[in-house]
Amino acid sequence: MSADVRIAPSIVAADFTRLAEEIRECEAAGASYLHIDVMDGRFVPPITLGTPIIEAIRRSTDLVLDIHLMIVEPEKHIGAFMDAGGDIINVHVEASSHVHRVVQEVHARGKRAGVCLNPGTPVSAIEELLPVVDQVMVMAVNPGWSGQAFIASAIGKVSQVRRMIDEGRYKAEIEVDGGVKPGNAHACAAAGANVLVAASAIFNDQGTIGENVALLRAALASG
Ligand code: DX5
Ligand code: ZN
Repeated sequence: MSADVRIAPSIVAADFTRLAEEIRECEAAGASYLHIDVMDGRFVPPITLGTPIIEAIRRSTDLVLDIHLMIVEPEKHIGAFMDAGGDIINVHVEASSHVHRVVQEVHARGKRAGVCLNPGTPVSAIEELLPVVDQVMVMAVNPGWSGQAFIASAIGKVSQVRRMIDEGRYKAEIEVDGGVKPGNAHACAAAGANVLVAASAIFNDQGTIGENVALLRAALASG
């Protein structure tokens, strides 16, 4: 199972002065997705980036663009993020009263829809969405910053979501975001995750992007 787990580098920790090169290194390292953290200064304190940067990224890569919207009222903006080239549009259940409609609108454009759960949000919040979503993002940190410590209870949450998906025979995949490192990657996969997001474990001074992705893969393979 672990061999199938995909790695999604989160560019929030990349060197933006050489973003295109960093993206090429992610491609060469065998990354599947490029995870793009959009923060609005309201749902979370920082402000990161918006659609012009995503359009530029879209022009520079064929990687799946996994857009993580940490913004209030995401329903007002999903069209713009799809126009910019997003492939998977992820919205927080805490940020919108109309997540189901968001999923419908994303599907109407032929894109994939994801729902995200903050650490303090119970899995029951997405029960009615599980049959229709393509991805559930389990946050293992409180969103807002790269480099925070992994909240261990996320593992149990991944298992819970995995059980519900399997019992319902739903197609949704599970993505874990926040604090993912070689030391916890295998536990995430064993609990049922399909995709692991990593920023500080991939973009750092300790190794190249290729070396760091290889460390995550080795951890997945070895347990
Ligand atoms: C958290 C973001 C994550 C984060 C990951 O707000 O959604 O994608 O940047 O960073 P690391 O892997 O460093 O925890
Ligand atoms: Zn993210």
